[in-house]
Amino acid sequence: MKILIVGSGGREHALAWKIKQSSKVEELFIAPGNPGTAKLGTNISITKTEEIIDWLKENEVDLVLIGPDNYLADGIVDEIQKMEIAVFGPTKDASEIEWSKSFAKQFMQEEGIPTARFKVFNSFEEANKYIETQNFPLVIKASGLALGKGVIIAQTFEEAKKTLEEIMTTKIFGDAGDEVVIEEFLVGKEISTHAFCDGENVSMFPASQDHKTIFEGDKGPNTGGMGTIAPVPWVTEEHMKAIENQIVRPTINALKKRGRPFKGVLFPGIMITESGPKVIEFNARFGDPETESYMRILKTDLVDILLTCVDGKLNEQKIEWENFSACTVMCASGGYPGSYEKGKVIGGLDNLEKDVVVFHAGTKEINGEIVTNGGRVLGISAIGSDLNEALSKAYGSIEKVSFDGMQFRKDIGAKSI
Ligand code: AMP
Ligand code: GLY
Repeated sequence: MKILIVGSGGREHALAWKIKQSSKVEELFIAPGNPGTAKLGTNISITKTEEIIDWLKENEVDLVLIGPDNYLADGIVDEIQKMEIAVFGPTKDASEIEWSKSFAKQFMQEEGIPTARFKVFNSFEEANKYIETQNFPLVIKASGLALGKGVIIAQTFEEAKKTLEEIMTTKIFGDAGDEVVIEEFLVGKEISTHAFCDGENVSMFPASQDHKTIFEGDKGPNTGGMGTIAPVPWVTEEHMKAIENQIVRPTINALKKRGRPFKGVLFPGIMITESGPKVIEFNARFGDPETESYMRILKTDLVDILLTCVDGKLNEQKIEWENFSACTVMCASGGYPGSYEKGKVIGGLDNLEKDVVVFHAGTKEINGEIVTNGGRVLGISAIGSDLNEALSKAYGSIEKVSFDGMQFRKDIGAKSI
């Protein structure tokens, strides 16, 4: 088969790495890809939805896999479906559950899916009046896609007011801030959950955990994610059954009933609270860097899974996971998630330990050298018989990798040991 993966991050490198292991793959293309994916297939330097559609008109492929959310919101899946090419990912309507937080919250309320109490506002004056009546901390979210930065946890009324002004009046997130969701602050432990979905049937992944802030101890501003573990040792089968039965299945059933069948990966961010699991947000795609850890422990051929999801036959597909642990530690540019410099030469990528894989995210190849080209630069991913072993391999290898200004968190997975 000929397969195209859309995207350029660590997630897409990890997906390419796993797909390349399938005996079904004849040719692998990645648009636009990165220096890591270039070693596994052919990178095509196009990024826009229209460019990808045009490329598909001229190049025969059997399956397309979409990585990032912005393409889903753009309706790339709908366009590819019209061309009668198999495509893994939800349509624009099905992925609204990610690209509109206000839609997602209203959907959960109507369907009785557990989530934080909330209200949606289109006017600054009304939002401001509302926060005067609330307890703090309070969570304020720009409704649209804001590169993972549109969520602010306000500790005081003054902070909440300033945040509303920035989002709704100054528009620091652009149109994403036309509408805001204001919600209750949930107390508990946060995990990432994923499920393969074929529109009707679902298959849960083991739980994983991201580390969102830039600094250790969950301090500092949020990033795209600084490291993951999978599975999460303290998450029980009971937790996973509750998430499947109270959240994932009702969501997939309700989307189908509403004429928006969801095919792809549903990724609910979950807070495990005293009163059970609650949805923090829905994503309509593989997580990044969750996928970098997940692909290390997925046993079943990923191409088989993707095809059965597209065909609506997930119930006929057995999906197996290894019984060892994986972790991924991200190396980021100095200054990230604020401004940072690019073009720093990366050293030490060869001769890493056995069981360690380096997934490229923001890198670029210039004259045979790999240099930094983004905020999150590399994911150092390791496996071990347990989490401890996986972490010690990843941290053992990270010491060999270096670039000017490199930062990484030393406490990935620490809370779970
Ligand atoms: P989101 O983009 O919605 O996942 O939010 C980013 C991060 O903010 C989440 O990963 C949580 O750590 C935190 N967060 C969001 N909503 C809430 C909430 N209602 N209560 C507590 N923390 C939250
Ligand atoms: N790691 C969080 C996300 O992909 O949204």
